[in-house]
Amino acid sequence: MGANIIGIGSYVPERILTNADLEKLVDTSDEWIVTRTGIKERRICPEDKAASDLGTEAARRAIADAGIEAGKIEMIICATITGDMVFPSTACIIQNNLGIENVPCFDISAACSGFIYGLEIARNLIDTGRYNKILVVAAECMSRVTDYTDRSTCVLLGDGSAAVVIERTEDRFGILDTYLGAAGKFGNLLYVPAGGSRMPATHRTVEEKMHFMKMEGSSLFRIAVVAMGEAVKKVLERNGFETKDVSLIIPHQANIRIIQGVARMLDVPMDRVFLNIEKYGNMSAASVGVALDEAVKAKKINKGNLLCMVSFGAGLTWAANIIRWGKDG
Ligand code: UT7
Repeated sequence: MGANIIGIGSYVPERILTNADLEKLVDTSDEWIVTRTGIKERRICPEDKAASDLGTEAARRAIADAGIEAGKIEMIICATITGDMVFPSTACIIQNNLGIENVPCFDISAACSGFIYGLEIARNLIDTGRYNKILVVAAECMSRVTDYTDRSTCVLLGDGSAAVVIERTEDRFGILDTYLGAAGKFGNLLYVPAGGSRMPATHRTVEEKMHFMKMEGSSLFRIAVVAMGEAVKKVLERNGFETKDVSLIIPHQANIRIIQGVARMLDVPMDRVFLNIEKYGNMSAASVGVALDEAVKAKKINKGNLLCMVSFGAGLTWAANIIRWGKDG
């Protein structure tokens, strides 16, 4: 039994924040941002919308692409670290927006690795035989946890969403395997200090900007390249594949230099690595999902191709999967 992606969609908000816009907010330059990160612009969610609104639009597109009624969805998993509220889950809000009733819905928190973690949870639940169709959504409003006075983080992040419908299949198509990793000991390299049970919101937490992301970029950079490269190697090796078997690698879009480092480590040419970082920056869990959707729409993926998605993020967490693409273009 397999878990095949039968529908895919993504959605990014219309508002564009360019490097020139950021030059007016902090002491930075287009030249620094492009050479150090590869990012030219990113999308920003309107004030009256939230992660669930982005996720709902991506989900509608994925369900339409699958050619099914929303009522056929049997479970909704949402990967997000910028959900609408502490509770209820963003998955439940998306369920209500889609008019789906009486199916299990929950969020997962694995930061940038969340979409690949979510796909793996869905694959295993489908494997039990209990579920036939699961909707996996990644929806992030990273702009809401970004300090636009901190030049070391504000140039990196953007908002967006992606979704897939996964269906049980008897064929050898779909998600074949996933390697998941985490190292909680590095949690202090990337986090939002306040807003949870350790540091609930107070005037002080707001004044001291404790609701914004804190990041040690250069330490993360080094760990990211090795963790992503190793994850890809492990998932390929244990399934008897080599990098030459992979038609396209879809990496997390945090920094072009991280992606190039991973490609070098794997000895894969950059023309087999999908990039859209210059348009969106880092959209956390949504990055690999939006990249997958754009790669499919650009016809860089054909039925039968072997793909590898790989990501890395707060936790720290990392993940890599291999997918035998089983959908006609
Ligand atoms: O989603 C997964 C989690 N996140 C990541 O994976 C991010 C990983 N890290 C990175 O992408 C990179 O470390 C950054 C892009 C964040 C930073 O690049 P870097 O090459 O590691 O630069 P750095 O932090 O070592 O900083 C070099 C210099 C510093 O100046 P000094 O101290 O050498 O004078 C920074 O203050 O660049 C300065 N700098 C900037 N200058 C202009 C940092 N940010 C900026 C900026 N504009 N936006």
